[in-house]
Amino acid sequence: MIVRQLNLRNYRNYEKAQIVFDPGMNLITGNNAQGKTNLIESLVYLSLTRSHRISSDRQLIREGCEFAEASCTVSDGDDKKISAVIHSAGKNLMINRVPVKRSSEFVGILNTVLFSPDDLGIFTDAPRERRRIVNQEITKISPKQLYALNRYANLLKQKNTLLKMYNPDLSYLDILDEQMIREEVEIIRARRRFTEGINSHMEGIYRNLSDEDASAGIVYDCCTGNDENIEESLKNMYRNARQKDLENHVSSCGIHREDLIFTLNGKNVLLTASQGQKRMVMLAFKLSILEFINDITGKKAVLLLDDVLSELDRSRQKKLIDMIKNSYQCIITCTEIPEFLKKENPCEFYVENGKINRVTGGRR
Ligand SMILES: Nc1ncnc2c1ncn2[C@@H]1O[C@H](COP(=O)(O)OP(=O)(O)OP(=O)(O)O)[C@@H](O)[C@H]1O
Ligand SMILES: [Mg+2]
Repeated sequence: MIVRQLNLRNYRNYEKAQIVFDPGMNLITGNNAQGKTNLIESLVYLSLTRSHRISSDRQLIREGCEFAEASCTVSDGDDKKISAVIHSAGKNLMINRVPVKRSSEFVGILNTVLFSPDDLGIFTDAPRERRRIVNQEITKISPKQLYALNRYANLLKQKNTLLKMYNPDLSYLDILDEQMIREEVEIIRARRRFTEGINSHMEGIYRNLSDEDASAGIVYDCCTGNDENIEESLKNMYRNARQKDLENHVSSCGIHREDLIFTLNGKNVLLTASQGQKRMVMLAFKLSILEFINDITGKKAVLLLDDVLSELDRSRQKKLIDMIKNSYQCIITCTEIPEFLKKENPCEFYVENGKINRVTGGRR
């Protein structure tokens, strides 16, 4: 899949912009606070219908304007134009100029994988954030997981409301548990598939990128452990937790308590890894997501690297670029282009104060 053209109107500090991307490597350069991340963010928005930086869409609207618009053409066998208009009352999504009601119809048309320095926060964030990442990737490739997750969240809310009551109806609790288990079996299977898929790539990618003889991976801390019979295991878990949940008035177990642990040589990266190693683990994870998406859907997502090169030493920069340059469309932001990269003849854009221009002839 390739993003051909991106158009922005009143999006953050862009009044009006049109960018025609190269199918290979695109470099967006510019000084600090000029609009590089804003541009990357607009592509994330078109891929997920939300920003990776903020939860309220209002801040995406250029100051003093009524609405913001981002649209792009995605080539993936055929061409699709997707657009999002963001206004104070919400957003309108369109595919080929036809309005769509559900975000789930829109998500996945443009599939991007982003790596930015902010991603390192994931290691120390609460487990909820790590679950969010897994859910996001799983739902991008299988929208039906979104329904399972939403139904589960709804049932969990009902269960917790019930548990807060004096003398709750136990048979109703049984029904809720049964319904939750049905959704959880699906979600656990998907999370297991995701973990296996990522691990089949991550170790090799990490070794290759870092030149270290170390093994990196993820561990899915599943509420049913490795039990093959997920349904039976969940039933037992709920049965054993019932008394405690009634006493504490809250549901203590289930997929909403799970976690994803990043490891280096079998240890949680938080315990021993250096800053540089953490960065490489996260980068290897993101590149493994690209491979996983390709394995499952046969499609290549677009790789977005925001401000990542400056954080890597020269040899790692080179390894990263070698790994991706012929495989994926990449959109890379940086304040300065490393010398070696100029020889790769990337398509270069320069951003200044919300104005973007294609730079002809490499060096400015
Ligand atoms: N809603 C908005 N309206 C107008 N300008 C905005 C809006 N939101 C953000 N900006 C401006 O966008 C600029 C930041 O852009 P961005 O984060 O893309 O910078 P950057 O080029 O990635 O910089 P850096 O290299 O520091 O990461 C800031 O000057 C900020 O004031
Ligand atoms: Mg930035």
